[in-house]
Amino acid sequence: MPVNLKINGKPVTVDVAPDTPLLWVLRDTLDLKGSKFGCGVGQCGACTVHRNGAAVRSCQLRISTLEGADIRTIEGLSPDGTHALQKAWEELDVPQCGYCQAGQIMSAAALLERNANPTDTDIDNAMNGNICRCATYIRIREGIKRAAVLKRGGGMVPASGSPGRPGGADAETADNVGAPKSLFDATR
Ligand code: FES
Ligand code: FES
Repeated sequence: MPVNLKINGKPVTVDVAPDTPLLWVLRDTLDLKGSKFGCGVGQCGACTVHRNGAAVRSCQLRISTLEGADIRTIEGLSPDGTHALQKAWEELDVPQCGYCQAGQIMSAAALLERNANPTDTDIDNAMNGNICRCATYIRIREGIKRAAVLKRGGGMVPASGSPGRPGGADAETADNVGAPKSLFDATR
């Protein structure tokens, strides 16, 4: 069944089995390999993309549910890798192995679209559910704060936040399939 949707601003028609997860379509059909497979069950965030501007887990979205959807992946975040988050990530050397980082950045980008000046708690709540096995959480938080400053047109590096990852959830709506699920506690 052909499905028409927009990927990174371009109209795309994909014709795959209706229950194919979006992540498979992105990686295997469209050769967009930035979104990663981690758990496959909506619990790690490595596959995070935007659907109509909201952070969602692409491993949890069947392609048949995405007719007309506007999907953005890490490849479409900026034309040349100069999104404020990408600049901040580079400046602060945020990634370690890097596997989780596309998902981290996509969750962070959705946060900054709705909150130009997030507090530590806002960040922890929004990023809750994006797992990093290398435990780069503190640098991720600093990277988001730095990106917020860059996005607002400033140049000062903000003061460091306190360590840790208090729990919380960032589900966009109660019935948003593929929305981030709460997993973290402060020690993870
Ligand atoms: S692969 Fe882990 S949430 Fe999608
Ligand atoms: S940087 Fe290695 S899993 Fe996050």
